[in-house]
Amino acid sequence: GKGNYRHFMEKELHEHPVVLGDTLRQYIDPASRAVALPALPFDPVAVPKISFSACGSAYLAAQVGRYWIEQVARIPVDADIASELRYRDPPLPEGGAALLVSQSGETADTLAALRLLRERGQRILSVVNVAESSMARESHGTVLTVAGPEIGVASTKAFTAQLAVLASLALGFGRARGTLPATEEARLTAALLEVPAHAAALLEDSAEILELAREVAQARDVLFLGRGSLYPIALEGALKLKELSYIHAEGYAAGEMKHGPIALIDPTVPVIALCPSGPLFEKTASNLQEAAARGGRIMAFTDAVGAPALRRFAERVVVLPTVDPFVAPILHAIPVQLLAYHVAVLKGTDVDQPRNLAKAVTVE
Ligand code: F6R
Repeated sequence: GKGNYRHFMEKELHEHPVVLGDTLRQYIDPASRAVALPALPFDPVAVPKISFSACGSAYLAAQVGRYWIEQVARIPVDADIASELRYRDPPLPEGGAALLVSQSGETADTLAALRLLRERGQRILSVVNVAESSMARESHGTVLTVAGPEIGVASTKAFTAQLAVLASLALGFGRARGTLPATEEARLTAALLEVPAHAAALLEDSAEILELAREVAQARDVLFLGRGSLYPIALEGALKLKELSYIHAEGYAAGEMKHGPIALIDPTVPVIALCPSGPLFEKTASNLQEAAARGGRIMAFTDAVGAPALRRFAERVVVLPTVDPFVAPILHAIPVQLLAYHVAVLKGTDVDQPRNLAKAVTVE
């Protein structure tokens, strides 16, 4: 049941800390802070390429996974929407690995992509939340997100659990390949292990996100911007807002603004920016400043390090805990989900069962 929560989605949002902790503990030993990779159907040292395929939010988790694996394990990675993979017909190397990401393990397009990749000789690893699902059965190997049942149609805790698994895999691959020095591994696993506590703090005090939601609920169109591993989280924020509140929202890579979307900027279109401190901060902040100079109302998620610079031109700055840039996409996923939730509640839409959507899409 929903317990004391108004919606399953609210309950599931509040399960983030526990789910993230449970999932991370499967792959990282809290005492030694070392990643312990599960048995894999391919050798991460020899694998020539990884092909991700998934749908919806799971695809966006895969996109973050691509940034992580490329960064710390130096393996070439592709990430495709499952329904597009078959038409793209990419050349696949002998002994390549395919990673299918799915909460349900039953999504028809992802299952079709799995079968295609398998026929083409790829070693199949599925990242699923349901151990006895079709995808788990048809894969050479499976790693589990430990999110528990997710009832709300919009994915919340399963999405962040997917991120936790993919971050752990990236670090494990990097360690195996010797591209991630032990000190760096220890630093990044420590950062990951702190995420559940940060998530709990964020959920405890979401008054600012509720205030932001009141403004977003008035808008007809909303833009979400991010760079690097925060770009897929911008896409996730837009997807969640659309599906839950029926407000038109788009996510863009911050650097793409000047190539078209900046034409949309006016005071009626809130710009939600995901802009934590780190190597990409200055670039993102300057894109935001350009939008502000054209009358855009910038609502930024950042941390205490980034806040002062953004306050010079942003209308609202929501300060999240300061974390290593590696884990920032996990932490930023939570407020964008919360924002969509609060906007939906304010608009009175059916939060747990948005119109036209199904929890598991078992037809192509
Ligand atoms: C968005 C959402 C969907 C799913 C997608 C894939 O909030 O929940 O986009 O992520 O339908 O579903 P799974 O993960 O079951 O394959």
